[in-house]
Amino acid sequence: MNVPALVLGAILGAVIGAPLRALVRPHIAWLEKRSRRTWKVDPLIQHCECVLHAPNIAVGYIGTLVTACMMVLSKVACGVERRMLVVTGPSGNVGAELTDLLCSRTMGSWRVASRRPELMADRVAASGGQSVRFDFFDSSTWSAALEGIRELFLLFPLPGNKAARTAILPFLQAAEKAGCRHVVYVSVFGADKAGFIPHHKIEQALFKSSMTWTVLRCSFFMQNLFRSISTHGEDIARRGELFIPAGNGRTTFIDARDAAAVAVEALLHPGRHHNTVHHLTGPAALTMNEVAESLSVHLGSAVSYTKPSLPRFAGRLRRRGVGWDSIGFMSAVYSLTRLGLNQPITGDVERLLGRPPRTLDDFLADQSWRFAGRSWT
Ligand SMILES: NC(=O)c1ccc[n+]([C@@H]2O[C@H](COP(=O)([O-])OP(=O)(O)OC[C@H]3O[C@@H](n4cnc5c(N)ncnc54)[C@H](OP(=O)(O)O)[C@@H]3O)[C@@H](O)[C@H]2O)c1
Repeated sequence: MNVPALVLGAILGAVIGAPLRALVRPHIAWLEKRSRRTWKVDPLIQHCECVLHAPNIAVGYIGTLVTACMMVLSKVACGVERRMLVVTGPSGNVGAELTDLLCSRTMGSWRVASRRPELMADRVAASGGQSVRFDFFDSSTWSAALEGIRELFLLFPLPGNKAARTAILPFLQAAEKAGCRHVVYVSVFGADKAGFIPHHKIEQALFKSSMTWTVLRCSFFMQNLFRSISTHGEDIARRGELFIPAGNGRTTFIDARDAAAVAVEALLHPGRHHNTVHHLTGPAALTMNEVAESLSVHLGSAVSYTKPSLPRFAGRLRRRGVGWDSIGFMSAVYSLTRLGLNQPITGDVERLLGRPPRTLDDFLADQSWRFAGRSWT
């Protein structure tokens, strides 16, 4: 039963019914007098009232229906407005590819949060997205980045335990408070077991939060070969040298585009990936000698792996002005490779994307121009 319609109908009926009675009664009396017989006044009035009630009730019903529709529509509108997908690190290995993928898809509201938002503002705006200034280490920039958030792509630049404590964990709490429901987080292999890795703390905080999460534990990105911060591209292009302190260890290089493709799936379909850890690797575990051979083929000039020690590596990068935090982080990653801890291969990329992950040769076939053009990212 539609109670609001009935109530509205009854009120209108009562309001109109009283004057109606007053109006009809003298006429009935006159009719009775003239015809010398008794008229059944009440059924007549009731009939008239019913006739008047019917449209009132109908109006009540329509009013209720319109109100309900407006409530549903406003809820939907609010939902669309609040469904803000926020991408941190949009210029990084995975973030840049993810931003490209999001730009090429028609989707709801989304935003990149970057220390240099002006660099991607036009491209993002063309696909309906926003670009805001954001720094993990400047909490005054957080609220603009988190406004209306529902999904978060979280990336921890240059992870360190102090940064985890002072910036990333508080930022995660701020996201939760701002209404974030799902977080896709880029992590590393072994973060579940090794408590000293900063990623471990972030993962644990996510698991304990009220938000759902997808953790992408990624192997080594192929894109590191031409990141300006690594300076590997300089060594490869200028000296024909792969200058990485990884000994004879093997690495399951992954193309960041594959990791980004998985991230998009997890962000746009959180229900299918909620509270899940994916282990993302490329299809093969390669030694640095094998990487140098592939580079030689695709660059058309000899590249050799010179197997530097950690101090030599650190010294050269320091002379180039690379910060100690970056050198320390890279040294830790390459030491794990040296120890054989970066070589597991999983089938997660193929399972999730329905196609095999790109090989290093696939990657170099369409990215080797970067070395010739010194186009570092
Ligand atoms: N590299 C790998 O092979 C690899 C493999 C597995 C997992 N991971 C993990 O992935 C994460 C990212 O590593 P990555 O090497 O891919 O990094 P990256 O490509 O260098 O990306 C770092 C991103 O973070 C942004 N950023 C830096 N400092 C920031 C700050 N204070 N506030 C806001 N944004 C900031 C940078 O943007 P701007 O400089 O433009 O502001 C950049 O977009 C790390 O947690 C790493 O452990 C890396």
